[in-house]
Amino acid sequence: MTVAEAMQKRRSVRAFLNKPIPEETLRNIFEQARKTPSNCNVQPWQTYVVSGEKRDQLRDLLLEEVNTKVSPEPDFNWQIKYEGIHRSRQFGSAFALYDSMGIERENKDARAVAMLRNWSFFDAPHVAFFVMEKYLGLMGAVDLGIYAQSLALLMVENGISSCIQAALGQFPGPIRKFLNLPGSQGILFGMSFGYEDLDADVNRTRTDRVALNESVQFIG
Ligand SMILES: Cc1cc2nc3c(=O)[nH]c(=O)nc-3n(C[C@H](O)[C@H](O)[C@H](O)COP(=O)(O)O)c2cc1C
Repeated sequence: MTVAEAMQKRRSVRAFLNKPIPEETLRNIFEQARKTPSNCNVQPWQTYVVSGEKRDQLRDLLLEEVNTKVSPEPDFNWQIKYEGIHRSRQFGSAFALYDSMGIERENKDARAVAMLRNWSFFDAPHVAFFVMEKYLGLMGAVDLGIYAQSLALLMVENGISSCIQAALGQFPGPIRKFLNLPGSQGILFGMSFGYEDLDADVNRTRTDRVALNESVQFIG
């Protein structure tokens, strides 16, 4: 598979088969992703991959937290309120998701239930948490984002699907405790991954992209 093919093939998947990835494949993907570039080669990502019974335990703790907490308490402030064209694109992706699940746009309860699936990792057999020292701020976040895309593409090459999730950085409390993170580190985001459930409605979600000339200027 070429990089271009992997780019075309990758999309966010939000329902998975109950089938773990063979350990060798899993390790190989994370081994390859070490080659990701980072600012000054600091390689700030500390990645935790949680699977099996541990994943189930963490899911239960997280769901309890999300159901009792009034508002998110992220380690990093990226509760951004999108404006203008970004806001319309945000709505576009949300509607694509809810439409695929047959959820009416006004149906807040059904949307909340769908949202909650973020914290059960969409039933994926594996979940990764991307952690970094809090002081790194923006530059660290850039590096971790690039790292996550490396992983997503390597996964595609191995027939594995994923969903990068900011939601997994919103209620870090139980995850921090579970992973025994020092106070200096924060959870930026997470990613659920595994083999796609091809029968799930939610996986019919498709998003589009703006035309090339709306995002790239070739000068000279
Ligand atoms: C940084 C980042 C955070 C995201 N957070 C979430 C999330 O919390 N929950 C979710 O269902 N999808 C999440 N997504 C997936 C996006 O909604 C998705 O990438 C976008 O709509 C484009 O669709 P595609 O990935 O299928 O191409 C996130 C993606 C990125 C890159």
